[in-house]
Amino acid sequence: MTTNSTNCYLLAIESSCDDTAAAILHNDKVLSNVVATQEIHQQYGGVVPELASRAHQQNIVPVVTAALRKANIDKKELSAIAFTSGPGLLGSLLVGTSFAKSMALGLDIPLIDVNHMKAHILAHFIDEEGYEKPTFPFLAMTISGGHTQIVRVDDYFEMSVIGETIDDAVGEAFDKSAKLLGLPYPGGPLVDKWAAKGNPKAFPFTKPKVAGLNFSFSGLKTQILYFIQKQVKQNPDFIEQNMADICASIQYTIVGILMDKLKKAVKQTGITQIAIGGGVSANSGIRNALTQAKENLGWKTYLPKFEYTTDNAAMIGIVGYLKFSQELKEKNTYTDTGAHAQSRLKI
Ligand code: KG4
Ligand code: ZN
Repeated sequence: MTTNSTNCYLLAIESSCDDTAAAILHNDKVLSNVVATQEIHQQYGGVVPELASRAHQQNIVPVVTAALRKANIDKKELSAIAFTSGPGLLGSLLVGTSFAKSMALGLDIPLIDVNHMKAHILAHFIDEEGYEKPTFPFLAMTISGGHTQIVRVDDYFEMSVIGETIDDAVGEAFDKSAKLLGLPYPGGPLVDKWAAKGNPKAFPFTKPKVAGLNFSFSGLKTQILYFIQKQVKQNPDFIEQNMADICASIQYTIVGILMDKLKKAVKQTGITQIAIGGGVSANSGIRNALTQAKENLGWKTYLPKFEYTTDNAAMIGIVGYLKFSQELKEKNTYTDTGAHAQSRLKI
């Protein structure tokens, strides 16, 4: 199939976890970006895979319809469809994958598979007024509910992971700490909100010692658990009375862990351009720390727009567009790689 790459209307679909999302892009510009967040998981304190895939089945048609309507595009005008092939929950991925495949077959347009983690990084290349895109090479720190990685990015599709978590992801550290404090899922944004009103040095927690550029968060979670249990034994109202200080202290420790490793990565690679991505990149603590590093350490930092931090389809769309246009430029055609959902997919 031959299509003009400079006039590409692309539908992107994201369904890797608990957000059903669709976006329409015209080349590298986002025309619409719709996300249906599944609230059903709140009552269980975490994502229930079977419920997530069922909710995706219910949401996918209305979400795609809304994305097309908001962009004022008819499906017949689409040049290609991009979808998240992984990593993620298999049952969730299968809903987006099979929907994208059937729609592409029905419209006889190319189907483009996208790696969700690469998408969190390449979201920085969405064309937005006033947003300066990173230049290569840069370091990307992907921080989400499922991943914590430092990635060296030499080109759009030349990336290598130079550090990652050996146990929990940083988003899990936020969410599990929040759960201990009785906050609903996902607790990360709530810890952030409470932290704004608290003293970050009220309760010092120790940072884990992990070699190289790798991370560990499971020890911190246990440390917080024991601390809370001990304090509540002495004062049953401890959490309520100290919520802001506890959240500020947890956030301060987590941000410290992330910044220590970033500083090490900068020293090791000599690269001072830093981009962040993934749900936790919405966190005000890490955003402030990076803004300070810009002033104090001379780094060039790239903070995504809030709507491109947590899971969304616009980031899938930009990767789809980059893959599609690059291949068209090289071969004057785009060859489908097929629709394969893969729960474990590396960068
Ligand atoms: O990227 P994402 O939407 O989904 C995954 O691929 O995991 O990330 C979701 C994670 C959750 O753990 C959520 O608590 C966390 O991002 N998160 C935050 C904030 N906003 C979202 N964590 C800390 N502070 C925030 N403001
Ligand atoms: Zn994500």
